[in-house]
Amino acid sequence: MNALNDRIAAFYDRSSGLWEKTWGEHMHHGYYGPNGDQAKDHRQAQVDLIEALLHWGGINACRNFLDMGCGIGGSTLYLAHKFKASGTGITLSPFQCQRARERADSAGLGDRVSFELGDAHYPPCKAGSFDLVWSLESGEHMADKSRFLSACYQMLAPGGKLLMATWCHRPGPPLNREEQRLLDHIYRDYHLPHILSIDGYQAIAGEIGFEHLEIDDWTPAVQPFWPAVVRSALTLRSLAGLAKAGWPTIKGALAMCHMIRGYKTGLLRFGILKGERP
Ligand SMILES: C[S@@+](CC[C@H](N)C(=O)[O-])C[C@H]1O[C@@H](n2cnc3c(N)ncnc32)[C@H](O)[C@@H]1O
Repeated sequence: MNALNDRIAAFYDRSSGLWEKTWGEHMHHGYYGPNGDQAKDHRQAQVDLIEALLHWGGINACRNFLDMGCGIGGSTLYLAHKFKASGTGITLSPFQCQRARERADSAGLGDRVSFELGDAHYPPCKAGSFDLVWSLESGEHMADKSRFLSACYQMLAPGGKLLMATWCHRPGPPLNREEQRLLDHIYRDYHLPHILSIDGYQAIAGEIGFEHLEIDDWTPAVQPFWPAVVRSALTLRSLAGLAKAGWPTIKGALAMCHMIRGYKTGLLRFGILKGERP
């Protein structure tokens, strides 16, 4: 493991218990309609993001999938249940891996779903064995985006599909100094090496050999999420939980303000990508 991966693992080891208590099993944005104007329960919005992605990706069925950066198995169990599929989730965090296994057993899915501790750049899985690779808000953590997308490609069987959603920066002219400074705060607080624009991901995926590539920008659809996270962090219970989890988690919580600013200024984008292995 390298230093960045160690930091990512430690961050999720420390913060995942508190997140689950406050927000449940999904560790990703919610979906509030294409323009972000649908008022709804925030946990429902997280489930709606999964459904909206599947719809956009044209995924109506699945036999065996790989969840790259699986958290505590929120999507993994959802997909396994929805498609009556087998699934493997991988994460860097021992806490998450253990918790995901417990959750799979409680849901009666322990025989179809497995969770492995491993690095998504080099997944500890059999190449060519998945018809879907799913990556929901993990790509931003990957130090080598090209290696990560190659791994996604290698894991897919011919005809298999990649569906990912990831934090991006805006496309277009080079970032200015102020934008770079804001990104540096976000990188430091959330343990991200760097992020790309969504067309940057598309270009890399094209070089690797993915076909039928499509991208989109769902920033407006997810934007109401962070203000809701800030409000949830300000409840007494969460504040007590934050104090118990310690300074690194508190720092992560304070970084929410940087995320909101990033979205407001148009710097941060929520990018989605789909592609197929020929
Ligand atoms: C924001 S969480 C998203 C979790 C899950 N996809 C969800 O939506 O609930 C990011 C996840 O990516 C995982 N991750 C980050 N870098 C990774 C890597 N190099 N290899 C495997 N997992 C990684 C973390 O361990 C964490 O589980």
